[in-house]
Amino acid sequence: MNNSQEEDRIIEAVLAHCRNGSTDQEAQIMRIPVGEYTSARYFHREVQTFMREYPLIVGHVSALAELGAFFTHDLFGVPLLVTRTRAGKVRAFLNVCRHRGAKVETRQSGTANTFSCPYHGWTYGADGLLRGLRHAPGFGDIDREEFSLVELPAFERFGLLWVKPSPSDEPLDIDGWLAPMSEQLQSLRLADHVLFKAWTVPLNMNWHIALEGFQEQYHFCSAHKHTACAAYLDNQGIYLDQYPHVRHAVPVAGFEKLADVPVRERSYRAHFMTQNYLFPCHFVQVMTDHVYVHTITPTATDACVFSCMMLIPETVSGAKAERHWQANYEVVRRVFDEDFAIGASIQAGLAAGANTHFTVGRYEVGLQMSRRALNDALAGRLPVPTLRQT
Ligand code: FES
Ligand SMILES: [Fe+2]
Repeated sequence: MNNSQEEDRIIEAVLAHCRNGSTDQEAQIMRIPVGEYTSARYFHREVQTFMREYPLIVGHVSALAELGAFFTHDLFGVPLLVTRTRAGKVRAFLNVCRHRGAKVETRQSGTANTFSCPYHGWTYGADGLLRGLRHAPGFGDIDREEFSLVELPAFERFGLLWVKPSPSDEPLDIDGWLAPMSEQLQSLRLADHVLFKAWTVPLNMNWHIALEGFQEQYHFCSAHKHTACAAYLDNQGIYLDQYPHVRHAVPVAGFEKLADVPVRERSYRAHFMTQNYLFPCHFVQVMTDHVYVHTITPTATDACVFSCMMLIPETVSGAKAERHWQANYEVVRRVFDEDFAIGASIQAGLAAGANTHFTVGRYEVGLQMSRRALNDALAGRLPVPTLRQT
């Protein structure tokens, strides 16, 4: 089997839990003040931190398959322009004209050698440099370099595209940042996957509520009684604190039979759904034969946007394959809708004052792990590492 050592350890840990009637637990319960879901000031700090200071996933590499391809991206509250230059490098810019601030590129995607602002026609190269301005003498002796598009750190890793939505003085060490998850992300070979569906759903709930719906399996057999419950062991899962990220492995129903399978023949992938939290707002959800990449974007104290890419390991050919992937898509939408209905009900009760705190139990390990990392970031204790010149 192609399991990593980490995966073999997860299998052993679940088998031990099955033998002992135990499951992964935190040492203590955690109490989260409800104000962290309702305070406008807290929310503003969160956006300034989580949506500006960290590399965020903006797409699958297939979005920039061709040299000269670009796409625009508006989800994170700052307009982004992401390009693949003719030299093949992924670059990202604020999609904001340096003249008087209009959005330079208004199309969603395409290929282009230059980007021309619709307001007064200032034109930028794919490298962000100001190439031309109409009636240039009207601006005197300006230094065009100073008027380049503002560049943002951008990366292509593990088949995904990442942008930090604010400029950085020093180059970021994206490999260091993703290192705790790299073995697994590498093994998924997402660059060879195909985007089967991408969808975006506005949700009427604080972003934490949406996030927290994906961070424990304690709710499966109540909230997903007729869907996910039957597919997985009840309240059984392994959580690895890959700070600030979390690997959360949920064994599929019938997992116990693996105890009778020779160790070398035990396939991790065939026996787990893995919900990987990638700090601060993503999940890479690994199913037995395909992968979902989620992004949960805070947009207001009581609203967020859920967006998802379904990545499959083959180009769909034929009706049978189409039916297989479509059926998976429909099931997952149904399960997510069950989570979102609960989330909306939580949001509706927030203002009622019944709770001053939410209580996160010892089983809800993923919530506790991620909350510690999020709190560290808000306190300034979680900088993205930089590549320091030697
Ligand atoms: S704002 Fe873009 S050219 Fe004037
Ligand atoms: Fe759920």
